[in-house]
Amino acid sequence: MKGLVLAGGSGTRLRPITYTGAKQLVPVANRPVLFYVIDNLVDAGITDIGIIISPETGHEVRSALGDGSRWNASLTYILQDKPRGLAHAVLVAKDYLGDAPFCMFLGDNLIGTKIRAAKEAFLATPTYEASVMLKEVPNPSSFGVAELDAQGHIARLVEKPKEPRSRLALVGIYFFRPSVFEAISEIRPSARGELEITDTLSRILEKGGTVHWDAVTSWWLDTGKKDDLLLANDTVLDAWLEHDVRGAVDGESTLSGRVRIEPGAVVQRSRIRGPVVIGANARIVDSRIGPFTSIGDGVSVVRSGVDHSVIMENAHVEDIARLEDSLLGRRVRVQPGATRAGALALLVGDDCVVELARTP
Ligand code: DAU
Repeated sequence: MKGLVLAGGSGTRLRPITYTGAKQLVPVANRPVLFYVIDNLVDAGITDIGIIISPETGHEVRSALGDGSRWNASLTYILQDKPRGLAHAVLVAKDYLGDAPFCMFLGDNLIGTKIRAAKEAFLATPTYEASVMLKEVPNPSSFGVAELDAQGHIARLVEKPKEPRSRLALVGIYFFRPSVFEAISEIRPSARGELEITDTLSRILEKGGTVHWDAVTSWWLDTGKKDDLLLANDTVLDAWLEHDVRGAVDGESTLSGRVRIEPGAVVQRSRIRGPVVIGANARIVDSRIGPFTSIGDGVSVVRSGVDHSVIMENAHVEDIARLEDSLLGRRVRVQPGATRAGALALLVGDDCVVELARTP
């Protein structure tokens, strides 16, 4: 079986972070979301993987993943000129996929379950034309939604329905056989102008094909927006972080809970409450960090408190009593500096959000 990872698209919902980087590379517990996707495919024995990239962020995705040797996998990059839909991405990969069954995995989806069992069941059952994963969610209108018949089989699939008739969302992991290409050739672009994979699955059903489904019982997160990303960070730190201190922590600092400190990082006179990850060459001085916080490589935090946040590479936080629920992009600086008391001096790019403490 081959893998097809979708790492194209435009990432508008995670602006401004995605103005300068691919949304699939936004870090969760200091690793790009995409790395967890490759981990999961490789764990299932899928090592021949095509990666859909866009002209805007493709170079960045390539340099983050490389040739796949880090995973003992072989990666092939496939350019999609425009984000014309998930089914369009499958068409673009047609030559690469050939006549192999394949697993399509959306590059911004994080899931607490391994896909191995679903893959094996799919390969063992040739009558399954496709197989999907469903999870009950509180906000089904944000997803593809499945309706089941009385026997519990998928009867209907609708992309982002305004009035959903079920809470079962389509998770971004799909198994297909080459027959999917015929179904794609028979659908038209949706109202949002995309060739939808949800319509492709509906077409398979209409033609009498079987679309099998498995329930996802673990957590599943789509890292599309800031709050989703912070939640993904909490969840991954909570579920997978292992205590491992390789940086230099002085005798005046305290660490509690699970804390990972990468080589070259320095922690002085500070209190770290796990789960927290601190990246290589970060500097934490006279500060309080955590819980549920990821500090990227080269970040410095001085005389500040940071909790429940993701701070990306080389950002700098100084003399900020309490920074929480925050996502700071690369090289962002947060520090006092305005010359007049009570004044703010901001240099913020397009689409940034600055939320200050409410005055009582
Ligand atoms: O996350 C699960 C949901 O993913 C499903 O429930 C929906 O049925 C499915 O349509 C999809 O919805 P989204 O609106 O969240 O998809 P998004 O546009 O965010 O794209 C998902 C990933 O695929 C993302 O990493 C970008 C990439 N992509 C997207 C498009 C439209 C491409 O590589 N090429 C594309 O043309």
